[in-house]
Amino acid sequence: MQKLYVAMVGLPARGKSTLAKRIRDGLTAEGIRARLFNNGDLRRALMGPESTEADFYNHDNSFGRQAREMICRRNMDLARAWLAEDGEVAILDATNASRARRALLERTLADHPLLFVECVNEDPLLLKACIQRKADLPEYADHSREEALDSFMKRIGYYEAIYEPLQDEKFRICVDATANRILDEKPCEGSPYYPAIREILVTPWVHCLYLARHGQTEFNVQGRIGGDPPLTARGRAQAQALAEHLRGHPVDWVFTSTRMRSHETAAPLLGERPKTHVMALTEFDEIRAGDCEGMLYSDIRQNMPAVTAGRNADKYRYAYPNGESYAMLSDRVQRGLRRALFLAGDKPMLIVGHQAVNRVLLSLFLRQRTEDVPYVHVPQDQYYRISLTPRTKLFERIPYVSRRTASD
Ligand code: F6P
Repeated sequence: MQKLYVAMVGLPARGKSTLAKRIRDGLTAEGIRARLFNNGDLRRALMGPESTEADFYNHDNSFGRQAREMICRRNMDLARAWLAEDGEVAILDATNASRARRALLERTLADHPLLFVECVNEDPLLLKACIQRKADLPEYADHSREEALDSFMKRIGYYEAIYEPLQDEKFRICVDATANRILDEKPCEGSPYYPAIREILVTPWVHCLYLARHGQTEFNVQGRIGGDPPLTARGRAQAQALAEHLRGHPVDWVFTSTRMRSHETAAPLLGERPKTHVMALTEFDEIRAGDCEGMLYSDIRQNMPAVTAGRNADKYRYAYPNGESYAMLSDRVQRGLRRALFLAGDKPMLIVGHQAVNRVLLSLFLRQRTEDVPYVHVPQDQYYRISLTPRTKLFERIPYVSRRTASD
């Protein structure tokens, strides 16, 4: 029976471990026995606090180099032994940054095919967020935040000095971890696990996404577009109801736009959850109406009939004068979603968006015809719960405001 080794490759804080866990979970869901062998976990279990210090990763530090090689060999032995029994796919999670290290893996793990999965992440915002998250790890408990960040950045520097991207390895796949995109591939043909692994790598995994629109604003009442208005009393009641409705459901990450109405809608929920991460993304700001910002729909109809006619003819592609179309909005919303999904990883998340933004977000999951996207109903008293993995496609619209409150 042919089995498989998967070895992760990539600089620290690029999302390797998230991807490695996804491969394990995705294969396990298919009934395949997959297990992780993580060098970092083994290092933390075997080594003292000196293995947290940046100098441990300096290539010129022979003690650190030998210790890391010993850990790598130990994990290879464990992986081999496990495949020799009833394991099917052993996933070695480590940086495996140099060609020499990967050659060692190829020599030692010659009893089954070895697939290298390289994880690339060039998004500066995500890199910064990942690095900051590392500084919160228990292994930096004795460090101040600044010391931890400084030390981790130095560690990355030592890895950068020896890093060589995949090139000649026999079986390899290079993925942009922020976009679920394969950048380069030398397939492991014939392996029964390869198609499933490839699908796992390209699927945008959404474990649990709550998607809500901001509560009512005065502009909504008047039929005025854009701007940065605050919530009305009813909008604040909707925000409170959202917090109460989600009480008891974990939400680890909240993403808002940079607009006041989005912040105010998230505020009651965040007030109850001091540990929840929150990030405002400009990508989730409402469609830019350009010269029509702040205008009433009725004024646009009367004074700028070409705008109304243009939107009626092709609402998806029509761009407001000096503003955006849905097509343009879609590009940046996709970038925001990629960022949000990468940061939240496997944790439940909430996006508090806007009417047009949420239409675009929904269309990304529903694979709708583009011409229908600008007409999707996005109520302010209901949210969507979305879960998407290679095996799950879950999509629900859930009211969170009781009938009485809604009609107050
Ligand atoms: O009316 C609220 C709003 O969010 C506006 O700010 C935005 O221009 C509009 O919805 C988008 O919806 P539509 O494309 O249907 O005008």
